[in-house]
Formats: sequence, C-alpha cells, structure tokens
Amino acid sequence: MVNWSFVALLALLGVATAVVAPGFPIQETANANLTLTFGTNNVSPAGELIPRPDTASPPNITTPVWTSAGKAVVMMVDMDVPRNGTRVQLLHWLVSNVTLSSSSNDNTTLSIPSPGEASYRQPSPPVGDTPHAYTILLFAQPANFSVPSQFADVLQSRVFFDTSAFVAAAGLLEPVAANYFRVQNLTGTPTQSFPPPRSPSATPGNGSSSTPVASPGGAAGLGLGDRMGWAVVGTAVLAGVMAVAL
Ligand SMILES: *[C@@H]1O[C@H](CO)[C@@H](O)[C@H](O)[C@H]1NC(C)=O
Ligand SMILES: *[C@@H]1O[C@H](CO)[C@@H](O)[C@H](O)[C@H]1NC(C)=O
Ligand SMILES: *[C@@H]1O[C@H](CO)[C@@H](O)[C@H](O)[C@H]1NC(C)=O
Ligand SMILES: *[C@@H]1O[C@H](CO)[C@@H](O)[C@H](O)[C@H]1NC(C)=O
Ligand SMILES: *[C@@H]1O[C@H](CO)[C@@H](O)[C@H](O)[C@H]1NC(C)=O
Ligand SMILES: *[C@@H]1O[C@H](CO)[C@@H](O)[C@H](O)[C@H]1NC(C)=O
Ligand SMILES: *[C@@H]1O[C@H](CO)[C@@H](O)[C@H](O)[C@H]1NC(C)=O
Ligand SMILES: *[C@@H]1O[C@H](CO)[C@@H](O)[C@H](O)[C@H]1NC(C)=O
Repeated sequence: MVNWSFVALLALLGVATAVVAPGFPIQETANANLTLTFGTNNVSPAGELIPRPDTASPPNITTPVWTSAGKAVVMMVDMDVPRNGTRVQLLHWLVSNVTLSSSSNDNTTLSIPSPGEASYRQPSPPVGDTPHAYTILLFAQPANFSVPSQFADVLQSRVFFDTSAFVAAAGLLEPVAANYFRVQNLTGTPTQSFPPPRSPSATPGNGSSSTPVASPGGAAGLGLGDRMGWAVVGTAVLAGVMAVAL
C-alpha cells in the first residue's frame, strides 16, 4: 500500500477551517491553506475576487504541508458553471508529478510541470454572472497514479467534471491543502440568463462550514456601472428561475 502519512513541514496553528470554496463537493479538514499568488498579490482572504486579467497564467503556489509520497497532484475546479439550468463543475487544471522547488532556500514552493494532464485554463465566467469560485487542491500522489480511462474525455471537454467521482476513481485521498479564489466579469452585456447561484448552505458538512467571504473592496471598483451590472444579474437570475420553473 501507499504510505499515506503526511509530513508537516511547518507548524500549523489555529482551529479547523475549510479552505475549499463553500459547498465544494469534497472536504479539506487538514486546515492547510495553499498560498496562491497572482503577480504580487497573494489570495487573501480565501475567496478573494481576483481581476480576470491577473489570472491569465496559473498562480504560483506555496504549501505549508507536504506529503511523504514525494509527489503531488494539483487540481483546479470551477463549481459554478451554468449549464442545463443548474451549476456544474469544470476542470480547469490537472497536473501530476508536482514536486517541491529544488531551490535549497525555498522548500515550500510547488514545482508544477506544464502542461500536465489538463493544461491550465484561465477563469472565464460569463459576462454578468455571479462570481465563480475556483478551488485549487493539493493531493498526495499515489505511486501508480494515472487518469482513470472514464475521465479521458473530460480532460478535453472539461465541463461536467465530477470531482468526487474523480478522486474516488483515481485513488486520491483527502487533499492535504487547498484554497480558492473567485472571478467575476461585469464588463459587457450578458448574453444568456443564469440559473440561481449555488446555495452553499444546501450541503452543510460537505464542503466548507465557513461563511461566504464578502467581496473585498478594491478588487473591482463598485461604480454605477457595476451596480447596473448587479441589477442585470438579478434580472438574469430571475429569468433563469422562470426558465427552470417553466
Ligand atoms: C510566478 O513566479 C515567476 C518567477 O518569479 C514569475 O515570473 C511569474 O510571473 C509568476 N507567476 C504569477 C502568476 O505570479
Ligand atoms: C486558512 O484560511 C482560512 C480562511 O481564510 C482562515 O480562517 C484560517 O485561519 C487559515 N488557516 C491557517 C492555518 O492559516
Ligand atoms: C469579459 O468577457 C468578455 C466576453 O467573453 C471578454 O471579451 C472580456 O475580455 C472579459 N472581461 C474581462 C475583464 O476579462
Ligand atoms: C445537458 O442538456 C443537453 C441538452 O438538453 C443534454 O443533451 C445533456 O445530456 C445534458 N447534460 C447533462 C450532464 O445533464
Ligand atoms: C510522472 O512521472 C513518471 C515517472 O517519472 C512518468 O513515468 C510519468 O509519465 C509522469 N507523468 C506525466 C503525466 O508526465
Ligand atoms: C525547509 O527550510 C527551512 C528553513 O530553511 C528548514 O528549517 C527546514 O528544515 C526545511 N525543511 C525541509 C524538509 O527541508
Ligand atoms: C494502484 O494500485 C492500487 C493498489 O495496488 C490498485 O488498487 C489500483 O487499482 C492501482 N491504480 C491504478 C490506476 O493502476
Ligand atoms: C454529505 O455527503 C455524503 C456523501 O456524499 C452524503 O451521504 C451526505 O448525505 C451528505 N450530507 C449532507 C448534509 O448533504
């Protein structure tokens, strides 16, 4: 069997706080937060709204914990993709053979092969939709890890991903660390109506028990344009509800 004992590199303090997005299908109870860095900005607090242009390249990632397995798998999932009148998951990034930086004075930065099994896809929430949450997870890598054949198609199409089923089929255990950020696009006119936002409280105990993080000021100016954007969103959500009801 694989040796699944995990080695903490740095002392972990504090009480358990999930760092996956609220309502994410799998849990992370280790309370280890990945540090996600876009340019000079570390995502903080968890769930920070990041301007989409800053997410063109994958974040640099540091981890407070590592695995005795020696290698890790990085996964990024958007769970807010509007499809078929509901919200579904989309696989943005899947990379195995992740190691720690070989630099002797930096043993917390992940060294992530590119492109990996599923190359990084920039967050692109549709114009006018509510913010999408992008959870990045770090798993210990089983010695014989490979993408299960039934997931070969989703590596291409990406949408309708099933994180729970993938984790089970690939023999991944609970993630050793995680974090999430959010992206929203209000520049433009919505071209579709949207299903209601996910309700994180619909699955208490499965995902995060933390309260949703309020949109931090500064990430996007809240001028008149944005308020109009929100008004449009509200209308679109209503339209989506009507569509579902019909
Ligand atoms: C990651 O770090 C490298 C090296 O410092 C830097 O060139 C790159 O811009 C960083 N990427 C992001 C998304 O911050
Ligand atoms: C992880 O992030 C959450 C949310 O920002 C925070 O409440 C918690 O204290 C962090 N955990 C650690 C160990 O820093
Ligand atoms: C918002 O989405 C539109 C349409 O896809 C795109 O052209 C635009 O660049 C996006 N805006 C931002 C800030 O990413
Ligand atoms: C989504 O809707 C399309 C069109 O109705 C349908 O063909 C497809 O099977 C649906 N997909 C899922 C995962 O429900
Ligand atoms: C991961 O590393 C192993 C051992 O070096 C190699 O056989 C395998 O092809 C690598 N996986 C990928 C997806 O590159
Ligand atoms: C990581 O670096 C710190 C500071 O240099 C050092 O104390 C620690 O032992 C290192 N850990 C490993 C596993 O190399
Ligand atoms: C990996 O090894 C385990 C234990 O031997 C086995 O149950 C599992 O099916 C293997 N997975 C793959 C993808 O070969
Ligand atoms: C949590 O997930 C498990 C397994 O999928 C399920 O059996 C359970 O009913 C869920 N609990 C809640 C509160 O949704």
